[in-house]
Amino acid sequence: MTTRRHLLAGGAAVAGLGVAAGAAVVATTGRDAAPAPVARTDAAPLTTGTATVPFHGPRQAGIAEDPPAHAAFVAFTLPGGTDRRALARMMRLLTDDVARLTQGVPALGDTDATLAVLPARLTVTFGFGPGLYRAAGLAAPIADLPAFRIDRLESRWSGGDLLLQICADDPLTVAHTQRMLIKDTRPFAAVRWVQQGFRRSPGVQAPEHTQRNVLGQLDGTANPRGAEIDPAVWNPDGSSTLVVRRIRAEMETWDILAASDKENAVGRRLESGAPLSGTQERDEPDFARLDDSGLPAMPDFAHVTRARVTDPKLKILRRPYNYDGVPNAAGHPDSGLIFASYQRSITEQYVPIQRRLAEKDLLNEWITPIGSAVFAVPPGCDEGGWVGERVLG
Ligand code: HEM
Repeated sequence: MTTRRHLLAGGAAVAGLGVAAGAAVVATTGRDAAPAPVARTDAAPLTTGTATVPFHGPRQAGIAEDPPAHAAFVAFTLPGGTDRRALARMMRLLTDDVARLTQGVPALGDTDATLAVLPARLTVTFGFGPGLYRAAGLAAPIADLPAFRIDRLESRWSGGDLLLQICADDPLTVAHTQRMLIKDTRPFAAVRWVQQGFRRSPGVQAPEHTQRNVLGQLDGTANPRGAEIDPAVWNPDGSSTLVVRRIRAEMETWDILAASDKENAVGRRLESGAPLSGTQERDEPDFARLDDSGLPAMPDFAHVTRARVTDPKLKILRRPYNYDGVPNAAGHPDSGLIFASYQRSITEQYVPIQRRLAEKDLLNEWITPIGSAVFAVPPGCDEGGWVGERVLG
């Protein structure tokens, strides 16, 4: 859906950015070396801002693609008396907004159309909570997670009838999309919570490199990739499910650990991400291998040992974002993960892993779940259709 106006506006913005981005690129040649002269990249094409992810298709976007750098998870509560027809109206409107915004086209009635022209790989993924199905008079395909003894859940980060997962490589794009979609949802639902998170920015490291999280760990090594995603994530009709857990990291106590203790908690080396039984990040962990003192090289209670799943149909796709809020007066950080997990079935795939981790996982000493929400992810839609039409139509 490319308009002349869109091309003109996008092109102008990109040209304007060229100088600033070029000026910011500074290369260093090694330790203590003086910064090399600023590399000018005015001629290099700027593609981050104008990149788009197709919206229409049998499966929703924002799941199988590499996660963009910024995300807002926005959950809503439906007021009493909401019925199926109101939900269908809401989803038609939001689908139309998202079909435009993700392609760099302003939403109808967009109050800041100039902010819509750089989508930066924008995706918006819809999730339906158990309450949405109740309101529609339908049986929900998902249910709240059982309580786990590690949970310290706060209602301000938990539950939700509708979820929008908004992701883009630019925080202003996310902010504009969030504002437009909240504005259009206002007649139908109230904002329940918003969680904003981040990952590495594009161009900071090669995309195939595993990213580090706020705890400094390489996070995502054993995630399903490429064709491995299909059996783990998608039902035949293009639907999926999503668990969002807000997990606080106890950074003050984590910081004082020796590197070896941090490595034992996870079962992988900090620097390389290699399993403690191997030497390379991609080495398969060997749970039978003993270390020099005759103990398992992969500790029984390590996070990776406990979380391990080998059946491709039972794996989960982790799509976590870091959060870093305002430190308290003592300077203690408010950091952790917005742990988003996609899978075909929450009960068959997510719950057994979470149960094993809640029973024993050394990492539990330094992480605390403070929010929890579950959503069914309806299939995508074709042009002219709307997300949720097979559920609510
Ligand atoms: C703040 C919370 C968490 C942190 C910091 C964390 C960190 C990590 C790290 C560093 C790894 C090893 C590298 C990798 O394969 O990505 C890992 C693996 C894994 N984690 Fe977590 N994790 C957290 C929460 C969870 C939760 C809540 C679940 C699921 C209920 C989970 C499931 C897994 C799985 C399935 C693996 C791969 C295990 C394998 O090697 O097969 N993690 N996590």
